[in-house]
Amino acid sequence: MEHSRLSLLVFGISFICFFLCTQARWHNHTKHHKHNNNHRSPTISEPPTPPPEPADPSDGSGYNSSGVFDVRNFGAIGDGIIDDTDAFKMAWDAACNQVDPAVILVPYGFDFMIQSTIFSGPCKEGLVFQVDGNLMPPDGPDSWPQKNSRRQWLVFYRINEMSLQGGGVIYGRGEKWWDLPCKPHKGINGTTMPGPCDSPTAIRFFMSSNLTLNGLKIKNSPQFNLRFDNCKNVHVESIHITAPASSPNTDGIHIENTNGVGIYNSVISNGDDCVSIGSGCFDVDIENITCGPGHGISIGSLGNHNSRACVSNITVRDSVIRVSDNGVRIKTWQGGSGAVSGITFSNIHMDNVRNPIIIDQFYCLTKRCANQTSAVSVSEILYENIKGTYNIRSSPMHFACSDSLPCTNITLSDVELLPAEGYSVLDPYCWNAYGVSQTLTIPPVSCLMEGIPGSILNNDMHYC
Ligand SMILES: *[C@@H]1O[C@H](CO)[C@@H](O)[C@H](O)[C@H]1NC(C)=O
Ligand SMILES: *[C@@H]1O[C@H](CO)[C@@H](O)[C@H](O)[C@H]1NC(C)=O
Ligand SMILES: *[C@@H]1O[C@H](CO)[C@@H](O)[C@H](O)[C@H]1NC(C)=O
Ligand SMILES: *[C@@H]1O[C@H](CO)[C@@H](O)[C@H](O)[C@H]1NC(C)=O
Ligand SMILES: *[C@@H]1O[C@H](CO)[C@@H](O)[C@H](O)[C@H]1NC(C)=O
Ligand SMILES: *[C@@H]1O[C@H](CO)[C@@H](O)[C@H](O)[C@H]1NC(C)=O
Ligand SMILES: *[C@@H]1O[C@H](CO)[C@@H](O)[C@H](O)[C@H]1NC(C)=O
Ligand SMILES: *[C@@H]1O[C@H](CO)[C@@H](O)[C@H](O)[C@H]1NC(C)=O
Repeated sequence: MEHSRLSLLVFGISFICFFLCTQARWHNHTKHHKHNNNHRSPTISEPPTPPPEPADPSDGSGYNSSGVFDVRNFGAIGDGIIDDTDAFKMAWDAACNQVDPAVILVPYGFDFMIQSTIFSGPCKEGLVFQVDGNLMPPDGPDSWPQKNSRRQWLVFYRINEMSLQGGGVIYGRGEKWWDLPCKPHKGINGTTMPGPCDSPTAIRFFMSSNLTLNGLKIKNSPQFNLRFDNCKNVHVESIHITAPASSPNTDGIHIENTNGVGIYNSVISNGDDCVSIGSGCFDVDIENITCGPGHGISIGSLGNHNSRACVSNITVRDSVIRVSDNGVRIKTWQGGSGAVSGITFSNIHMDNVRNPIIIDQFYCLTKRCANQTSAVSVSEILYENIKGTYNIRSSPMHFACSDSLPCTNITLSDVELLPAEGYSVLDPYCWNAYGVSQTLTIPPVSCLMEGIPGSILNNDMHYC
C-alpha cells in the first residue's frame, strides 16, 4: 500500500456508498414480492424490504425450502461474458430478507461476470454467500462502466454475521489495470505518468461485523485483494491469494479501523504487503500464514499527514515469509501522533527476505520528507524465534526510531538470521532504539540502548 491514500479512501467510501448502496436496490423486485416504495429512499439506513414467504423454486421465487438462493434462479447465466450483476443483486436482496439463515449459492462449474456492486445490509443474521463457481469483473479499465466506482469491485456493507465461503476462484482480471501508465514504472521508458490511477479492490467489507471468510481463492486483483474498513470480529481462514510479484499495490489483506481479527492458515503471494495493518486496529491474531513473494507483513504506514494512529495487541505467529522485500515491518511517518504497542512476532521463518526485521519511524516515499518532532510512538515490540535467511543487500535488523520519541521496550529472543548467500557486511542498525536481547542473537545486536529515555516519560502525545 505504498502508493495508496488510505485515509482519503475511508472518507471516499462513505461518499461513494451514499450513491451506490442505494442504487444497489434499484432493481426489478417484481419477480419475488410486492414493491413497497421505500426502496427508493435516498438514505443508506433504510430497512430491507419485507421478507417473501418461503416457497418452492418451481413457483419462480428463486429459492428452495432449504433456503438456498441459487443465482441461476434469478437469471444468472455464468458464461463469463453475459453481465450477471442484476441476478446477483436480486438473489442478494431476496436472501438478505429471508427469515431463516439463507444461502446464496454461486454454483460450481460457472463463471459469473459481475460489475462493481455493493451488497448492502442490514440483512438477517447468518447469511451464507457460498461461492463454489468463479466470479470475475469486466476486463480492465476500458470495459469498466464510467458510472461505476473504480476503487472497488465487490463490496459488503453493514452486514452482521455473514460467511463468505467456498472453493471458487475470484478472478480480479488485474492485468490491464497494472499496465496503466500511471502505475509505478509502467509508463513510457519506465516512468510513472500522471493520470487517473484508481483501481478496484477485489473484495471489501465496510462497517460490518462477525464475518467469516473461508476457503476462497483470489487471483490477480487490480489493486488490494481483500480489505476490511471499520469492521469488528473478522475470521479469515484458508484463503489463497495470488498475484505476480511485479503487480503494483496488490496488498493481500488490508485492515483498517478494524478489531478482533483472526487470519489463519492462508497463503498469499503478490506484489505488495502480504498483510497490512492500518490505523485503528487492535486485537489482531495472525497464525500460520505463508507470505511471498511480496513485501511482507506490515504495520503501517501510520501517521501520514500528521494524523493520529493507534494500533495495539497484534500477534503474528507460526508463519513463513519467503522472498520478500520485508519480513515483519512497522512503518510510521514523521509528524504523526498516537502509538503502536503490544506487538508480538513469534515463531516466524524467513526465507531470503531483504529486511526481515524492520522498524522505520522515518517512513517517506520521496526521501525528501522534512524532519518533524512529533511521531507515532513505538513500544513493547517482541520478536521471538525469528529464524532463517536474509538477502545481504540490507541489514537483517533495522530499528530507525524517532529522535524525539525513541522506540522503547523492543525485545529480541531467539533471533537467528543468516545471509541467504555470500557474506553479510551490514550490521544490525539502531537509531534511538531502546530494548534488550534476551538471548544471543545471530547476528549479535549490540546497538539497542537500555532503559527508557527521559523524553518519553513526560510526553503524552503517544497515548491512545
Ligand atoms: C421485471 O421483471 C418482470 C418479470 O420477470 C418482467 O416482465 C419485466 O419486464 C421486468 N422489468 C424490468 C424493468 O426489467
Ligand atoms: C436446495 O438447493 C440446494 C442447492 O442446489 C440443494 O443442495 C438442496 O438439496 C435443495 N434443498 C431442497 C429441499 O430442495
Ligand atoms: C523514451 O526513450 C526514447 C529513447 O531513449 C526517447 O527517444 C524518448 O523521447 C523517450 N520518451 C519519453 C516520453 O521520455
Ligand atoms: C457479533 O456477535 C456477537 C456474539 O454473537 C454479538 O454479541 C454482537 O452483538 C455482534 N455484533 C453486532 C454488531 O451485532
Ligand atoms: C497451515 O496452513 C496451511 C495452508 O493453508 C495448511 O495446509 C496447514 O495444514 C496449516 N497448518 C496447521 C498446523 O494448521
Ligand atoms: C489481544 O487480542 C486477542 C485476540 O487476538 C484477545 O484474545 C486478547 O484478549 C487481547 N488482549 C488484550 C490484553 O486485550
Ligand atoms: C533528519 O534526522 C535524521 C536523524 O537525526 C538525520 O539523519 C537527517 O539528516 C535529518 N534530515 C534532515 C533533512 O534534516
Ligand atoms: C516490555 O515488553 C514485554 C513484552 O513485550 C512486556 O512483558 C513488558 O511488560 C514490557 N515492559 C514495559 C516496561 O513496558
